[in-house]
Amino acid sequence: MAKLVGILTSGGDCPGLNAAIRAIGKACEDAYDIRLLGFLNGFRGLAQDKSIKLDSSMLSGILTIGGTILGTSRDKPHRMQIGGKTRDMTGAILETCERNHLDALVCLGGGGTQRNALRLEKAGLNVITLPKTIDNDIGYTDMSFGFDTAVGIATEAIDRLHSTATSHNRIIVVEVMGHGAGWLALEAGIAGGADAVLIPEIPYDIEVVADSIRRRTQRGKRFSIVVVAEGAVSRKEHIATSALWAERVAAKDPVSIESIEQKLKAYRAEHIGHTIQIAQKLEALTGLESRLTILGHVQRGGTPSAFDRVFATWLGTACARALHENNFGNMLALQNNEIISVPLKTVAGNKKRVPPDHPLIESAKLVGMSFGD
Ligand code: F6P
Repeated sequence: MAKLVGILTSGGDCPGLNAAIRAIGKACEDAYDIRLLGFLNGFRGLAQDKSIKLDSSMLSGILTIGGTILGTSRDKPHRMQIGGKTRDMTGAILETCERNHLDALVCLGGGGTQRNALRLEKAGLNVITLPKTIDNDIGYTDMSFGFDTAVGIATEAIDRLHSTATSHNRIIVVEVMGHGAGWLALEAGIAGGADAVLIPEIPYDIEVVADSIRRRTQRGKRFSIVVVAEGAVSRKEHIATSALWAERVAAKDPVSIESIEQKLKAYRAEHIGHTIQIAQKLEALTGLESRLTILGHVQRGGTPSAFDRVFATWLGTACARALHENNFGNMLALQNNEIISVPLKTVAGNKKRVPPDHPLIESAKLVGMSFGD
């Protein structure tokens, strides 16, 4: 009898999700005689047993489409808002899987999804995950799909901001996404030739950034592009949160990781709007007019890059093979140009941040970029 596998997308959407769903579905159906049931809106659809059959008609024409045909949400199996109450829906999820006679579950998601998938694996499900996120912050994979597209979008925006910044002799501060990691800011900053890049991993001193801009002015350059990762922190803010970060790095179990991340999130929420303050301070310190552009969800929307289509297809077909071989309990990852399986218990909770001694940081500094350190 053909196997039946559930599939869902969870967390923030990103380009390449449909390419991955298509690859899993086509390879499953054509090569391995496995059928797919797509659950809607992340773990919520699984808890509420809301699904659609992913037959070949559903999989056709979606390779180039952004977002996810399944819908997504940030719902967690063990803490879901149902009828105004927070409920543990793990039992309901297990019932859905039993009712539908699912042989396995595939979860496409970021760091939070890896942790939730591990919870479901521990509850007895056969789970495989794929790494997706524009933040590129999932541990044990060299890259996650969605990232390349987001870097491309942010780079194009920086290119466009360059010409207006030059024309007006202005500082333009560009806020990019990335959550607590600076990968997107770093790569888009390098690709777009930014003059300063502020990332969460290197706490900045605004005076140092202003100094680098003043030096540019002395050399006759009266404009600057400053890329700021949404999670960037000043040295002062870093001191205020470093104890929490140390706890976060040391934490091993998902419950404490989540509670620490909530506290960090609350701190960040209090400091929301700090990029406008960066722009204002730089204007005051350099005497150059400044403007702020927040790229926001533009970075997550639209068609995936060629790289993300290829990468998502590669991961998707590897996933179909792993389903066929009953190789469960893993995230499929890219390491040294190979797709490999990494146990979920290894991946879950391991955030990949930019190491301050990463070769790209050195390279960026050598082409004159300031990190405000
Ligand atoms: O994780 C992807 C991401 O886009 C982050 O870069 C960003 O902080 C977050 O999601 C935004 O989430 P939401 O779409 O829920 O506002």
